[in-house]
Amino acid sequence: MTQTARDIFVVGLRNAHAMETQARELMERQSERLDEYPEVKAKVAAHLQETNEQLKRLERCLESCGESTSSLKDTAQSVMANMQAMAHSATNDEILKNTFANNAFENFEIAAYKSLIALCGAAGVTEAKADLEASLKEEQRMAAWIDSNVEKVTMEFLTHQRQAS
Ligand SMILES: [Fe+2]
Repeated sequence: MTQTARDIFVVGLRNAHAMETQARELMERQSERLDEYPEVKAKVAAHLQETNEQLKRLERCLESCGESTSSLKDTAQSVMANMQAMAHSATNDEILKNTFANNAFENFEIAAYKSLIALCGAAGVTEAKADLEASLKEEQRMAAWIDSNVEKVTMEFLTHQRQAS
């Protein structure tokens, strides 16, 4: 029983690590092209720092389960690959697609951390909980920021388009 929960937990940690690695790549690419949207750029840069810390937390959690982190294979998850493909298409409404993709990404991450936190007790790794909760809070803050800025970013995009035409 405990072993099963622990196995599920470890797989979940590895998947979360892959997810955050993809999130980092996505944000690194975005932040290079966000000069026209300084507020979004600053937020993405700040969340990039948080994401690096989240990766370290996940590695700590894996280590506390006795798992090696040296051979972490971050295999792409198809849902992420789709969002990435969408986000990378360099059309002029890229900022909107990135905003939608980031919104989806953050909510995906929130669900993943909630699931891991729920497993901590059954997996016998209560010491991992604080780290996972810290990451969850960061994801929730980022998701809330994106959610409350969709309209603003859209209108900024409209302004830029008008200026360009
Ligand atoms: Fe995130």
